[in-house]
Amino acid sequence: MLILGIESTCDETAIAIVENGRKIHSNVLRSQIETHKRYGGVFPELASRQHVDHLLPLIERALKEAGYTKRDIDLIAVSYAPGLIGCIVMGLNCAKALSYALDIPFIGVHHVEAHLYSAIMSRDEKATYPALGLVLSGGHTLMARIDDIGSYTLLGSTVDDAIGECFDKVARFLDLPYPGGPEIEKLALSGNATKYPFKAGRVKGKPLHFSFSGLKTNVLYSIKGQNNNKKAPSILSEDEKADVAASFQEAAFKDIIKKTILAARMENIQDIYLGGGVTNSSALRAMFEKADSKLNFHFPKKELCQDNAAMIAGLGYHKYLSGNASSLDLEAIPRVQL
Ligand code: KG4
Ligand code: ZN
Repeated sequence: MLILGIESTCDETAIAIVENGRKIHSNVLRSQIETHKRYGGVFPELASRQHVDHLLPLIERALKEAGYTKRDIDLIAVSYAPGLIGCIVMGLNCAKALSYALDIPFIGVHHVEAHLYSAIMSRDEKATYPALGLVLSGGHTLMARIDDIGSYTLLGSTVDDAIGECFDKVARFLDLPYPGGPEIEKLALSGNATKYPFKAGRVKGKPLHFSFSGLKTNVLYSIKGQNNNKKAPSILSEDEKADVAASFQEAAFKDIIKKTILAARMENIQDIYLGGGVTNSSALRAMFEKADSKLNFHFPKKELCQDNAAMIAGLGYHKYLSGNASSLDLEAIPRVQL
């Protein structure tokens, strides 16, 4: 079965052609980073307009790279939730129109569930369950027990900022461009991670939940001076900025790793699948590998970390096989739990 995947929930327009949920024939995207950079984050109205311009040319490109035509496609998979409503609607309407015109089924896929699937899809061996899934992205931070594809129990999530969002905000405090994660990782290489005693938050009575807003404020005060706001100038030298980047990165990742290991113990699970843009970080991967040799941490292939359509097409295949084709009245949902 040949699946055309469509992703447009945020600032990436992405299209992929995937066979039977796994074999990627093409996986193309157009990032809008240049457009949103000057705002320090995604400007929703501009993002949805750009999806309109990029969707059809990207579909042509993905088909060409894969060596297929529209008539070869058996199924269309599209993210319908969660994300920026205007952005989702663009991809969803495109999927509906293609499905109608080509007379083939389409299926709506939950974007965060697709991030959970990205590392499962990246592995040569078939996944066994139960497993633990972790999504670390710009919009989401959550941990779930996976009993099968489509069967999840949410174990923990953030009560304030998502981890990627926190990296993006700290990058702004340090006058680094958007997206901040890769910039902080680069700067942290020349910094001393033990210089600042930062710590991520704990949520009372919920050991697997995350909280990053206190950490973010501590970092802000270290950069701008105690009780100063984010518009205040930095009081740090370039070397000290690198120390802040390294200490912040270390504190944020330490917290995630500690809670992941705790969840694995509590659920008696050995296989952990990670996904989302933050899993691009080589620093995070190295810290996980060092943390516990009895656990197996599975990361997505690099091209499947950030928002992409291959994970949408891949998951769409499984959803379709379990009898869940969508109808044309499927609506975009901006906020919804896994
Ligand atoms: O999954 P993604 O492409 O989009 C969402 O669904 O949100 O994730 C983007 C996020 C951004 O916040 C970006 O700063 C973060 O992933 N990110 C990183 C790294 N690379 C990307 N965060 C930390 N370290 C990195 N190397
Ligand atoms: Zn995402």
